[in-house]
Amino acid sequence: MSRLIIISNRVSAPKDSNSGAQGGLAVALSAALREYGGIWFGWSGETTDHFDGHINFQRNAGVTSATIDLEEQDLDEYYNGYANRTLWPLFHYRIDLAEYERGFAGGYQRVNDRFADTVRPLIEEDDVVWIQDYHMFPLGQGLRKRGCKNRMGFFLHIPWPPRRLLNTLPEAAELAKTMFAYDVVGFHTQEWLESFQDFAEKDLGATVHDDGMIELEGRKVLAIAAPIGIDAKEFIEGANSPTARLAYRQMKDSAVGRDMIVGVDRLDYSKGLDERFLGYERFLERHPEERKEVFLLQIAPPSRGGVESYQKIRTTLEGLAGRINGAYADVDWVPIRYVNQGYPRDQLAGIYRAARIGLVTPLRDGMNLVAKEYVAAQDPEDPGVLILSRFAGAAEQLKVGAVLINPYSSEEMADAIVQGLRMGREERLKRWRAMMDNIETEDVIWWRKRFTEALMSETVGAD
Ligand code: G6P
Repeated sequence: MSRLIIISNRVSAPKDSNSGAQGGLAVALSAALREYGGIWFGWSGETTDHFDGHINFQRNAGVTSATIDLEEQDLDEYYNGYANRTLWPLFHYRIDLAEYERGFAGGYQRVNDRFADTVRPLIEEDDVVWIQDYHMFPLGQGLRKRGCKNRMGFFLHIPWPPRRLLNTLPEAAELAKTMFAYDVVGFHTQEWLESFQDFAEKDLGATVHDDGMIELEGRKVLAIAAPIGIDAKEFIEGANSPTARLAYRQMKDSAVGRDMIVGVDRLDYSKGLDERFLGYERFLERHPEERKEVFLLQIAPPSRGGVESYQKIRTTLEGLAGRINGAYADVDWVPIRYVNQGYPRDQLAGIYRAARIGLVTPLRDGMNLVAKEYVAAQDPEDPGVLILSRFAGAAEQLKVGAVLINPYSSEEMADAIVQGLRMGREERLKRWRAMMDNIETEDVIWWRKRFTEALMSETVGAD
């Protein structure tokens, strides 16, 4: 059987067998590596003065990771630069924030070449290579140039933008063409898949076939939509763990009978946090009768602090939280609890369960697993309500039970909060059950199998 080589910017192989602090994706990929054997390759998260080709191998809980350090210049041009100042905003439809610098594009290519040089000797003839996310678009092409004939797949965890936005990127066509080095490319939703097909067809002159194959200059790639899920079983267990129970109790005690609304997001402008605060403010303004009956807990661990737009969003949110609390707080009540740190998953599960409403309102999101985790953490006898942005990838699956809103509209957000607070148990149960059916069926194992099976299928092949 083939080994699996997973390559991503961040490597989150387990630190020990029950670390519990891994994200859903890391859990899924670690499980795949345990099943197939192989290596998880990527950046160590560290910098070095001069990269000399050194690879750091580690084996933990049945998973081998291989990581390399980056140089300061790489961090500036590749990670903070092209990945997070160019591609991230552009792919989240924020061309107003996207910076197009040749230096960034050059650094991105250089680091991808370095990844290709370093990982190439680790790849054996029958291995299957699976590359993750926007940091690594050109890596497949780099490996092909270095004689790699293995089956290769790529999965994009963020949206693929509409062609008219993507075309603002000077090297858009070049970047999109790198997708044709793979045998299979995957997206979380039909919408992102269609945007890719549209670009391939109209801007590259590719042919899109009915069976999902896209053909360009004699090279065929299978493009699929495969929405990632959570490890529902494991998450539900976690939600019943002693840690979760304790967190639940603490939250309930500190809520003193008030309804909690919860949001948990990396501090990122794509998450629509300032719009969320404004929507909540609108709710407070329009519903004085609800004021001291609820509070919003927003957990937002800082992210990508080396990028200016992230520093700005942090300042904006501090200002908004301060202003709203200043305007509405009373001696025994604060409307927004704004917390800038992350928490382990089991603890979060307890917090989710204690919340009457989960508020997940990104302006644009590849998937958003917080939405699924919030639902999975609920008490099956008395579940809470998920308010979800229609622009999150998760909406394609969770529209069956979530209250969908347009996050740009404070009024829709305020109305949805009222609807959630007043929703009767029967309706909450019905909506929750519909979402759980999806979350339990299309879980992370289903996702991983769907992709690896497509990649390993007979009809898909290397050159
Ligand atoms: C998103 C991306 C991931 C990334 C994560 C955290 O989910 O799709 O590739 O790892 O954000 O961002 P960071 O820059 O800290 O790795």
